[in-house]
Order: sequence, then structure tokens, then C-alpha cells
Amino acid sequence: MELSQLIINQETFSIRALVETHRRVKRVAPCYPMSMDDFYGQDLAFVHAEAFEALAVSAAETLLQFLGRGAPSRRVLDLGCGAGPLSRRLSEKGFSTWGLDLSPALIAVARERLPGAEFQCGSIHDARLPKAAAAAAVGEVLNYATAHDPAALSGVFARVFKALAPGGVFLFDLAGPGRVGAGRSFTEGANWAVGLVATESSDQLLRKISTFREVDEGVRCRSYEEHRLRLWPAASVVERLRACGFRAQELPGYSGATMPPSLHVYLAIKPSWRQKYAPSERSLSGCRAPRARRAENALCKNGKAAEKQQCSAPKGRKPGQLDQCCDCRNQDQREHREVAIVDKQPDQFVEG
Ligand SMILES: C[S@@+](CC[C@H](N)C(=O)[O-])C[C@H]1O[C@@H](n2cnc3c(N)ncnc32)[C@H](O)[C@@H]1O
Repeated sequence: MELSQLIINQETFSIRALVETHRRVKRVAPCYPMSMDDFYGQDLAFVHAEAFEALAVSAAETLLQFLGRGAPSRRVLDLGCGAGPLSRRLSEKGFSTWGLDLSPALIAVARERLPGAEFQCGSIHDARLPKAAAAAAVGEVLNYATAHDPAALSGVFARVFKALAPGGVFLFDLAGPGRVGAGRSFTEGANWAVGLVATESSDQLLRKISTFREVDEGVRCRSYEEHRLRLWPAASVVERLRACGFRAQELPGYSGATMPPSLHVYLAIKPSWRQKYAPSERSLSGCRAPRARRAENALCKNGKAAEKQQCSAPKGRKPGQLDQCCDCRNQDQREHREVAIVDKQPDQFVEG
């Protein structure tokens, strides 16, 4: 019997069932090659969840810096969630999370670890994405997802853009050319080992991964997977994000993480309606007042003054009360602060 035939009904699938399955199969065939088209099958899923989640934890910290505090209604999409390390950190901070991954084995681990969160098995290309305040795709997810079709990258950006609320944040990484590094590695833990041979040609990276795992005393599994990734130069990624309507920039990395070679981190923000419609109005006044008031409002177009919450108000008006000094009584100070920052740093504007 092929191990791939044993992929278990998602609902009843559990680690215990997997171990039992392995026990039975491996006793008959102690070294049993897995079907080549398995992707993050049970052995590699186990190892990934054991030892390769540090980057996602750092990414969660970065995302939290942009999100501030959570609230039950603030949902975060964890795209290519794996065993859910990013979802776990965000739910600890009060966000509700929605995880999606192609691998049933990883989704099973995620569900077991975080029973209160939502996890779905499916593809980023066609799963229905719920509305959210933020989204993340951490750990080369989009390199995998675009391996066979370069046009798919803009497709994913457009889907995420649609799912995000105005002001929503999309944090992800993408490997670029040069990611192959040394090309060979061997990593081991208490009851597992992984050998990797990677080759890079043009915009493609191929990883051949052999996993060895002891599932019970004296019962060992070996599995083999081939992973194909498309490599993306940073400039073309930012360009595509902007073409989809995002404000986008590359970040130096995830919080506190030592980034692997050529793994780039991107932050994209869906503009709020204020940012989207502000520029034409801003050119005159720095705030969105009725046309007739624009000249008056020129008083508050000084970004510095707005940032300090002070302004050069005419005598008689109190400094620090931007809503009064510029005559835009329907706007609060926060809006002014945002507009001022957008004026100064169009690509670095971030809102929580
Ligand atoms: C290196 S793992 C990262 C997992 C997790 N984000 C983490 O950091 O621990 C890459 C993940 O992308 C998932 N993936 C690849 N292509 C996908 C697709 N089209 N839709 C959803 N998930 C995908 C894989 O199943 C795998 O779990």
C-alpha cells in the first residue's frame, strides 16, 4: 500500500492515527519511499513543526508592531500557515486567526495545537479568503505558490488586496536569486534528521529533501520530497504590489531574526479611503475641506506643525487644536497627523 493512499480524511486525521499508521506500515517495510508528489507529507510536516518555525515567530512579532493590540473582530489571515506558529502568537495577543495551507499533515498539527483557531486545507489560489485586518505569508509560501506560473503572483496579491480592509497590512517574504546558499545541508533532532540538496537555475530553485524519522522504538521512516520554488527579484515584487493598489516597501527582515540569504521581507498596505483620495485635495490644503475653504486651510498644510499638534493659527486660536485652526471641524486630529505623514513619506506610511 502506498503511504500517499493513507492520507486521511481531514476531519478525523490526527497525529496519533498517523503514528499508528506508520507503525503498521513500517514494520512490514522499514524503509518505505513516499510518493514523490507528496508535499509536506507527514514526516516533513512533523520535522517542520519541531524545528523550523523560528522565522514565523519573528514574523509574528513584526506583524504585531504594525497591528498594535488585537480585538476579536480583527482577523489575521495566515496564508501557508504550516503548523500555525504565526497564528499561535497572534491569538495569544488577542487576534482571531484564519490559517490556510496546502498540506493536510501540517493543517492536522495546527488544529491539534490550536483547537480554537480556524484552519483550512486548500490553496491560496482558489480558497475563499475571509475579510481581514491583516494577512501574512511567511516561509517562502509565495515562492511555492508561483512555482509553475509566474502570473500567479499578481493574482495572489489581488486576492489578498480584496480580502483586506482599508488600511490592512500584508506581510510576507519571498526568496530571490541566490537563495540556494551552500546547496547542501543536514539537520538533525532527537528522533529525526533531514538531508537537503538544492540547485538553482535562472529563476527556479529545486530542493530534494530526504527525511528520516523514528516514529516508535526501532521503527524508522524515510520519505523523499522535491520542492520547486520560483525566485523573485525584489524590484519586480514591489512593482507588482503597487500595480495592485498596495503601498509597498521591502523591510530589512523580521524582528530579531537572522535572515537566510536572499530571503526578502515585504510590507504592503491597502490604502484607506483617506489615503486614496487625499492627494488631490492635499495639494492645496493638507486636509479635505469643502472647496471654498481650501485657502483658509492652507494654514494647516505645514506638516511639521501638524505632527507636533501645533500650528501657526491666527491669533486668538489655540495652538494644538488642529480641528479648530484649519476650520475642518468634521475631522479629528488623527486624520491630520496621517495626512501630514503621508505628505512627507509617501512610501513609509503605516497605520494600525
Ligand atoms: C516553509 S512552509 C512555511 C509554513 C509556515 N508559514 C511557517 O513559517 O512555519 C511553506 C508552506 O507553504 C504552503 N504552501 C505552498 N503553496 C501553497 C498554496 N498554493 N496554498 C497554500 N499553502 C501553500 C506549504 O504547504 C507549506 O506549509
